[in-house]
Order: sequence, then structure tokens, then C-alpha cells
Amino acid sequence: MPFFKLFAQRPLVLPLALAATVAMVAISEVAHWQSIQTLQAMASGTAWSSQPSLQEQRESLLHTLMLGRIGVAVLSVICLLALVVVLRQGLALQQRQLAQQLGAQVADHRVRQLANQKAQRQLEAEVAQRTLQLTELTQHLQTARDDERGRLARELHDELGALLTSAKLDAARIRLRLAGTAPEALERLAHLTQSLDQVIAFKRRITEDLSPSSLVHLGLVATLEILAGDFAKTSGTPVHCSLQEVPLTPAAELTVYRLVQEAMTNISKYAQASQVWLSLARVGEQVQLQVRDDGVGFDPGVPARSAHGLLGMRYRVQAEQGGMVLSTAPGGGTQIDVVLPAAWPLHQAAA
Ligand SMILES: Nc1ncnc2c1ncn2[C@@H]1O[C@H](COP(=O)(O)OP(=O)(O)OP(=O)(O)O)[C@@H](O)[C@H]1O
Ligand SMILES: [Mg+2]
Repeated sequence: MPFFKLFAQRPLVLPLALAATVAMVAISEVAHWQSIQTLQAMASGTAWSSQPSLQEQRESLLHTLMLGRIGVAVLSVICLLALVVVLRQGLALQQRQLAQQLGAQVADHRVRQLANQKAQRQLEAEVAQRTLQLTELTQHLQTARDDERGRLARELHDELGALLTSAKLDAARIRLRLAGTAPEALERLAHLTQSLDQVIAFKRRITEDLSPSSLVHLGLVATLEILAGDFAKTSGTPVHCSLQEVPLTPAAELTVYRLVQEAMTNISKYAQASQVWLSLARVGEQVQLQVRDDGVGFDPGVPARSAHGLLGMRYRVQAEQGGMVLSTAPGGGTQIDVVLPAAWPLHQAAA
């Protein structure tokens, strides 16, 4: 096999060397036989056989010629072999250099690959860190927003509530004073009292929307029932409720409330549903919430122009160490499943 490689590498050198060897041996042979013929011609002309000294010289000459002939042949073959050895060494050297070059290229490629992998890992770590920071910031902003809404709701309730109540009392006193004296003024006063009642109802609605006090006073189940009732009344879509009392922290209860609120808003805005289902239950050490509609659904893979509602739901649920799954498809309704950790473990609740 190496011979063929040598031949493939140097297609001219070996045939030329072989031809030179054959030529050298042929020239040597021709010279040898010509010398023999010359000696024989000389022998036929002289009386060598009768002169022993000449006979001996002839024998010695023939011997020398034979040695020269063998020497040329052997040297030619040795030269040919040496050439083959030198060529083989050259080929081996070339292959070693090639292998080294290949090795260097492979090592270079590996180094670049490792550098790329390292850069990618760094990038991924950076993205993960930024995502975490953004999630924390969003959760912080959400909490701050809830706190601010709570403060505003309290101020509205206390300050505006007190002012409106005092105005209503004043109106009642004036009505008593004017009783039977000025019917026109009494009519105006009745209108004023009616307006004050509307303002009080409006204030209550705003206060409730800002921070649902019913969560504290009535509990989560009753608050969700009120929310579902209001939704059914304004949208005309019936809501089937299956709500159990569940152990949740106040923050988690607010999360559930806001989530249902946003889900209902989305249903009234987009779903065109004929029915809505709302369920809340405790399963093991988890609380499960589900909001489902049989409306038009949507493709969650298509980015919406504004998707803060669904995103906000996710952040809120994550902030409470829970998880949320959105299942929807065009024409297949929409279902939101949320799992939140129960406020205390099951064995404690049973005790
Ligand atoms: N129940 C649903 N039925 C049909 N489509 C829905 C439903 N809920 C959400 N969507 C679709 O998902 C998109 C994103 O909803 P999301 O609540 O995140 O944002 P939005 O309601 O458009 O705006 P925002 O809530 O920020 O005011 C909506 O634009 C709507 O196309
Ligand atoms: Mg929305």
C-alpha cells in the first residue's frame, strides 16, 4: 500500500529511477559481453592456450569483469532501494505535517466552540438575571400600586364619606326647618338629597373598585359572588359559580379577586360568550381557581397589541408562589387555571 501511495505522490520519479537502473545494468551487461567477445577474439588470434601465463591473465581479466558486472547490478539495486526509502520518509513527513495542521485546525475550532459556548452561557445568565430583576420590579410595582389604591380608597371613604354624610344630615335638618313653608325649596332639597345619594353610591363603587373592602368584611367567596353577579347583570351572560371557602393570605385573596376581575373584563370585551364558569376549591395543600368561558377564544401564539391584563395576572400569581395556565384556541373558548399555595398546611387546618 505505501508503494502505491509513493507512486501516487511522485508518479515520475519511480519509473525514471527504475529506467535509469535498468539502463545502468544494461550498459554494464553490454560492456561486459563486449569485453568477453574482445578477449575471445584476441584469444583466437594468439596462442594463449600454449602460454600458461597469458591463460592466467585472461582468467583474472574475466574474473574482474564478472566482479564489475555484479558490483554495478548490486549498486543499482541499492540505489533504487535507497531512493524508495528516502521517498517513503518524505511521504511520512508530509503526512505528519498534514496531521499536525489538521490537529491544529481541530483544536482551533474546539477553542472557538468553547468560547462561543461560554459567551452563550454568560448571555443566558445575564438574560435570566435581567428577567428576574424585571419580575421583582413588576411585583414591587404591583404591590406599591395595590397599597396606593388601598390608601386612596381609605381616604375617599373617610374624608369624602364624612363630607357627604354631613351634607346629607344638613339637608335633612333644612328639610325639617322648611317643612310646610316653602314647597319649591323643599322640591329642590329633595333633588339635592337624591344627587347626594348618587354621589355616595358612586363613591362606594370607586372605593370598592380601588380596594374591595368586601374582601375584609365579607370574605373572598362572597366578594367573588358579588363580582360574578355584577358581571352577569351588566353583560347578560350567566356565570355558574362553584366557590368553596379556601385558606389564603390577604395578598393571595386580592390576587384571586384581581385575576377574576380582569378575566371577567376580558370576557365582556372579547369573548362573546354565552356562559361563564367560575370555580374556587382547595385540593390538598393547594388552592385551585378556574375561570372558563365558551366564547370565541384566541390564538395565544399571536402577540396581542396590549397584553398587560394576562401578563399582570401571571406576575401577580408568581408573586404568590403560584402558577397559571391559559388554555384557549380560536373558536374553543378560554380557560384560565391558577394554582396557589394554601395559607397553611392541611394537617394544621384539620387539627
Ligand atoms: N376570554 C377571552 N376571549 C377571547 N379573547 C381573549 C380573552 N381574554 C383575552 N383575550 C385576548 O387576549 C388579548 C390579551 O388580553 P389582555 O387582557 O392581556 O390585554 P387587553 O385586554 O387587550 O388589554 P389590557 O388588559 O391591558 O387593558 C386580548 O387583546 C384578546 O385578544
Ligand atoms: Mg385585559
